[in-house]
This record gives sequence, structure tokens and C-alpha cells, in this order.
Amino acid sequence: MLWQELKRIQKIVDKRRISSLFKQDSKRIENFTIKADGLYFDYSKTNIDQSIKNLLIQLTSVANVGAYRDSMFSGEPINVTENRPVLHLAERGSLSANASANAQQTNVIVSEQHQKCYEFVDGMLNGTIKPHKAPRFTDVINIGIGGSDLGPRMVTRALRPFAKGLRIHNVSNIDGADLADTLAQVNPQTTFILVASKTFTTLETLTNAESARLWIVQTLGEEAVSKHFAAISTAYDKCTDFGIPAERIFSFGEWVGGRYSIWSSIGLSTMLSIGVEHFKQFLAGGKSIDTHFVSQSISQNIPVMLALVGIWHHQVCRYATRIVMAYEQRLEHLAHYLQQLEMESNGKSTTIQGEALGDVAGPIIWGGIGTNGQHAFFQLIHQGKQIVPCEFLVGINGHEPELKHHHDYLLANCLAQSEALMMGSGQTTTSSPEESINRHKHFQGNRPSTTLLYQKLSPYTLGQIIAIYEHRVFVEGVILGINSFDQWGVELGKAMAKQLYPYVNNPSVSSSGLSPSLEGLLQEINKG
Ligand code: F6P
Repeated sequence: MLWQELKRIQKIVDKRRISSLFKQDSKRIENFTIKADGLYFDYSKTNIDQSIKNLLIQLTSVANVGAYRDSMFSGEPINVTENRPVLHLAERGSLSANASANAQQTNVIVSEQHQKCYEFVDGMLNGTIKPHKAPRFTDVINIGIGGSDLGPRMVTRALRPFAKGLRIHNVSNIDGADLADTLAQVNPQTTFILVASKTFTTLETLTNAESARLWIVQTLGEEAVSKHFAAISTAYDKCTDFGIPAERIFSFGEWVGGRYSIWSSIGLSTMLSIGVEHFKQFLAGGKSIDTHFVSQSISQNIPVMLALVGIWHHQVCRYATRIVMAYEQRLEHLAHYLQQLEMESNGKSTTIQGEALGDVAGPIIWGGIGTNGQHAFFQLIHQGKQIVPCEFLVGINGHEPELKHHHDYLLANCLAQSEALMMGSGQTTTSSPEESINRHKHFQGNRPSTTLLYQKLSPYTLGQIIAIYEHRVFVEGVILGINSFDQWGVELGKAMAKQLYPYVNNPSVSSSGLSPSLEGLLQEINKG
């Protein structure tokens, strides 16, 4: 009923100019922006007016978002298909006071796990933890993939101004080029390797870890492994089987989903980069948004309103994709990070009850950084036939006071894009040949965007940004009636790759019986 009403209204307002909404509602800025703890979220440049907003807000009551949220914060097993709670919140100390005794116990476990990481980080940074045959470690390689890579990679890069000196590298792809290119930059004598894998079964990570182990052993001998390797995992026994001593195994709970694991021991490479105090500020930023999420009314709640804008654009307006544009060079990996967070969570076709989903679930997420994207794919965003809602993020200040004018240009560009998208320009009133060029130069405008302004990209701010997106994904998932915390869709391809491995570059194995396309491809490959 609500959905039908939203869709009915959307048809009516579809052609309305977003800019006209500011004339109709003199309080639009007040009503369509949210200020919270150094953040300013503006969703006024969307085609949502007060009555649409009211209907969207009603969706949250119908879907019981508040009750689901409380269940998550009190540690109930809301990840029903894997029968476990969703406790990444515990990593930033945000479980609710009335959580079950079991869930409360996780607070104790988490703080022990963090403490173990912090002691290791201090030892690495002050030089008391030493390599096998050199005075000090200079480089750290994090080997992991998916959630065991994207979070640490994105956050470490984003917080480079806070780096303490250890050089951090990231290897994820099973393509040997990734490992080879990284090893070419470092010296085994002074390199520490973190093998990050929640399950410690992931083919890419274990293959890379084995090859990196060989690289260490060939130069420094078998006895160097215990000094140059650590594991981050929930699978303790598998780590010891790999030869990693107990004191170098950093664990976290299986109730932390891979794409939500940056807050846990999986953040170890980031901790090694920025140090313990800054990592604690990062956790504090996440926690501040948890508090905001549970305590603010819906219309003052950034993650909830961001989710409702997302629902409006994808489910109601039927825009197929949305784009995240961070005007911040150091957030160059944010879009990749959010692709996993959003699409692995909400790219589903089955309801939480196990029935076929009636409508589309999460949209396609893509993005990049400004201003670079402006000189590449923004042509389509401005003039393409498809509407792509944009989510802009930008800091009011940069970290380079001596280059302040660069930052002011960056801000001006970010503001210019959202304004140009909304306002458009040019006219197409004539069909005469000499005027037809105007059609090429015409900007229809009326393209929606949101802007999240923050003061400066600090550990705290980045914690806030990530937590906003985590809760946004959660709210969208609850409204859509799906389980945002499993990822069965990644399994089939993994299993098939294992089955196909024996056929590759191996002409002696007959490929008959495989699909004709596969057979043809293998024949080409196996020609050598
Ligand atoms: O294949 C998807 C996935 O399971 C992600 O959900 C996860 O983040 C990634 O693989 C890595 O898994 P692991 O940390 O167990 O190696």
C-alpha cells in the first residue's frame, strides 16, 4: 500500500524540477539537512518533498526497523541463515546495556583481542619486536581479500597523514603479479607479513601466503617464519597448522562479518600504520554514529535518511545504480570498499523468510574520486539518458595548509557538480541546423544528489563515515525484508574454480563432458 502510494506519487512528480522545491518550501534547507557531531548531510537536492519524506519514514515503521535495530544492538542472532548474531558493533563498544549475558561476554573478549593487537603494534612501532636478522621492521604486507583486504587497504590509505612510518602494502589477488610486484618493493629481512582471513580457507589468501612464506624461507630459513608472520583469523587451528605461533595469532569473533571487520583485529595493518591512539579514535567515530543511530529521531538520523533516499531512488524511481564520489584523494578506495559493503549485503533475491523477493533489492554501487571522475565518466552523469543519483562526500579542510588553494578548488568543484546536476543549463527550443549544436550543449539538469560534508578526514571522521554506510545498508536491508549479513552468492564460483583447476594448462585431462563453451575455452588455453 505504502509502496504503491510512493510509486503513484513518483509518477506525478517525476518531471518536476528539484530546484522548484526550494521555492515551495522556504524551510527546505532546515528540513532536508542533518547536522551531527561535525557532519552536515544535505539531501535537499533530491526530488523528495515533505509528503514523500513522510511516506518513506512510514516504511521504517512498517518494516520494524527500530525493533530490528534493537535486536542487532542486543546481540540477537539476526543473521538467520548463518544462525548467528551480528556483533561488529561490539568491536567499537556499542552493544546495548540490556544485551544478553552472552553478548555482554563478547565485550570482554573483544577488549582482550584489541589489547593483544595494541601490544603488538606498540612493540612493532617502538622496535622491541624485531625481525630474524635485522634491527627493525620497515614494511608490512597484509595478505587478504574481500573484507580482509578492502577495509584495511581503504582506511590505511585514507589516514596516511597519521602514519607513523611503517610502510604498509596490500596483496589480495591470486594473480601472481600482485604478490610479485609487492615483493619486488621490499626486503625480506625487514618485512612482516600478516595473513588476514576470517576463515583461513580462502584460496587467494592461502596461495599468496604460501608463496610469501617460501620467499621468507628461501632467504632467511624456516626459523624466520615465526618472527615474520602473523595471522588474523577466527580459525585458530588452521593458523597454527600454517606454522604461526599462538602469540602471533590475532583472533576475532565469527559474529563479525568479513565486510564489517575493519574494526576488529582485521584492522591490524591499519593499526600498525597509524598507531593505537588513532585507531581508538577511529573506533570512537564509529561508536558516535552507533549512538546517533539508536538515539536520533528518523528525520534527524543520517544513516536512516540516507537509506530512505536510496530506497526512493532505486525501488521507487527505478534508477539502477548509484555513485559515491569522494572529493578526497585519500578516499580513492572508498568506492571499492562500499561496493562490497553494499552489494555483498543487499545484492539478494530472497526474503529473510526464504521466499522469492518481489522487487529489486540493492542497487549497483560504483564510484570514484573527485575531481578525477569529472574528467572521465561524468559526461554520462550529466548528459546520459540514465539518471545516476550521486552521493558526494567532501571535507571542509584538507591536511595541507600550504596547499589550501588546492583544497578550495576541490570544494568548489564538488559544489559545482551537485549544483550543475540539479540546475542544468542551455536551451533546446529550436530545430534549425545552426542551433542543433545547442542540443549537444544542453544540460537537462534535475539530477539528484546528496552531499556529506565533514570537517577534516581524521580517524574519528572516517569511523563516522563507515558506520553511517554500515547502518544505511542495514536499514535498506530491513525495509527490503532481506538478510544483509550472509553472502551465499559468492560460493558457486569459488567451488567451480576449484573443480576447474585440474583442467587448466593440462592437455592430458579430457574436458569432454564440460559445457561446450568451457570445452572450447580450455582447448584454446591448453594449446599452450
Ligand atoms: O568470497 C567472499 C568472502 O567470503 C567475503 O565475504 C570475505 O570478506 C572474503 O571472502 C574473505 O574471506 P576470508 O576473510 O575468510 O578470507
